[in-house]
Amino acid sequence: MSKLTAAITAVGAYLPDYRLTNEILETMVDTTDEWITTRTGIKERRILKDKDKGTSYLAIKAAEDLIKKKNLDPKEIELVLVGTATPDMPVASTAVYVASQIGATNAFAYDLQAACSNFLYGMSAAARYIESGRYKKVLLIGADKMSSILDYEDRTTCIIFGDGAGAVLFEPNTKGLGLIDEYLRSDGNGREFLKIEAGGSLLPASEETVRNKQHYVFQDGKSVFKFAVYNMADGAAKIMERNGLTHDDVSWLVPHQANKRIIDATANRMGLDSGKVMMNIHRYGNTTSATLPLLLADYEEQLKKGDNLIFAAFGGGFTWGSIYLKWAYNP
Ligand code: UT7
Repeated sequence: MSKLTAAITAVGAYLPDYRLTNEILETMVDTTDEWITTRTGIKERRILKDKDKGTSYLAIKAAEDLIKKKNLDPKEIELVLVGTATPDMPVASTAVYVASQIGATNAFAYDLQAACSNFLYGMSAAARYIESGRYKKVLLIGADKMSSILDYEDRTTCIIFGDGAGAVLFEPNTKGLGLIDEYLRSDGNGREFLKIEAGGSLLPASEETVRNKQHYVFQDGKSVFKFAVYNMADGAAKIMERNGLTHDDVSWLVPHQANKRIIDATANRMGLDSGKVMMNIHRYGNTTSATLPLLLADYEEQLKKGDNLIFAAFGGGFTWGSIYLKWAYNP
């Protein structure tokens, strides 16, 4: 039998309706549409306004979209992975709740946490379960309600992130389609630059941590930018090199949507023109775990069987890397 690979066979997505535009942000913090657009490429982001809904709501909606499109019986799903930096609760995995709510009653489930690399690392994990031969249907969801951890008085962070979710189904393939190679890295020295300081075991929640706003995202943007620009481009270049791919062989770059300047630098390093670069940062901002599957959902109609996709991401921690995947189906 030919080698077993893990192919993406379906995609789903969900974005909340509310559009937080740059113009609205201008009325909230000291910023301008011009600054945000030129520094990040973002024009608007979606926000889940409902106070009683958490990340699971977004994840369930994305999974239901996939299930409907694929006409899938959720009872066939064997594993549900949810990549999220904003779980519903610190304890009681969001993935477990999501699996139950979508009717995946024969699945086991758990969360992954590697910040903006959640989905990339999740692809690696999902692929290993499939390649083992033991599991045939793995649902990977990337979902974040970033608005729940943002300080809307901090112009350096609140303009960047948005809420959303995307889902993909991994299934076995014997035709050489699916995940081909991966280059994944991490560096714990990076955690000072992008973090939520309080609420974990190191600094449990207290009146003081709340007063000091330590439950919101803190980012030293400039430092993160430097590492992200270098490492996202480097990871993508490395995976091309070791698979003998030239820019002509690459059909699409699927880059984490943190900053248009980082994406452009990665594409430049790969020698790709903009027509091969998936981009939706202007519409959704940085949705953390959801950026990669939301790109797949937006570009699904343009993807063809056999297309060579290079995924690249960089996130807090630091975490980063690149994945080479051959697309497995036509629109
Ligand atoms: O997804 C996970 C990984 N995260 C990333 O990859 C994000 C990486 N970092 C970035 O994308 C960029 O660093 C930012 C978009 C966050 C910031 O852009 P920057 O070009 O690095 O700006 P900066 O932080 O160097 O700030 C430049 C100036 C500062 O003013 P001074 O000190 O020069 O007077 C900031 O105070 O811009 C000011 N500034 C703003 N001005 C208007 C910062 N935020 C804003 C704002 N509106 N929203």
